[in-house]
Amino acid sequence: MKLDVFTLFPEAFDWFLGQVHLRRAADLGLQVNLWNYRDYTPLNAGQVDDAPYGGGAGMVLRIDVLCAALEAVFGQDCAALKDQRRVVELTPKGRQLDDALAAELAAADLCLLCGRYEGIDERVEHVVTDRISIGPYVLSGGEVAAMALTDAVVRKLEGAVSNPESVVSESHSPELNGGVEYPHYTRPAEYRGWRVPDVLVSGNHAAIARWRAGQVRTR
Ligand code: ADE
Repeated sequence: MKLDVFTLFPEAFDWFLGQVHLRRAADLGLQVNLWNYRDYTPLNAGQVDDAPYGGGAGMVLRIDVLCAALEAVFGQDCAALKDQRRVVELTPKGRQLDDALAAELAAADLCLLCGRYEGIDERVEHVVTDRISIGPYVLSGGEVAAMALTDAVVRKLEGAVSNPESVVSESHSPELNGGVEYPHYTRPAEYRGWRVPDVLVSGNHAAIARWRAGQVRTR
């Protein structure tokens, strides 16, 4: 799987890409490339944004800058790219990311477009296949959203997470009918009077399975 991320802040991804499941995914063939719009701008002095038509607060990432970056990197018309891969704008105005969408995205090559300031010129609609939000709140830019989306997608790639079972029946998955997972406890069995449920230390695996299924139903 190929993942190309366009951003004004590629260094924001340094810590994230060093995480063990990302490195594991890279060993299994995930190719992540970070591209800075500013490196491809056709404008003077590294300009990438401009004031909004009609007035108003903030700056808008220019569509000519975005297309110049995509065309320099992929060597083709920016509007034709969507025939080959999912081109995703991260925006609070987008469709909300969920487990099913993460699984769907894991099956494609992806190009993620991060906006800053007031976002990207609306004509980005001619370039993208998807506009995705990670939740009903506004972040300062698309980078954190791109990392959240990448994390959710990479967990769906076979082999990226060391214990595959932990991915199959995790919260929001189809296996749990979109519900949340049962609670987890570890040692000590009692701490400050806070006790682990007796059934979990009983050694009775059938009873434990029943208890966990009950927790999934009621949560
Ligand atoms: N950019 C700013 N806020 C965002 C959000 N909630 N989701 C995706 N991208 C964003």
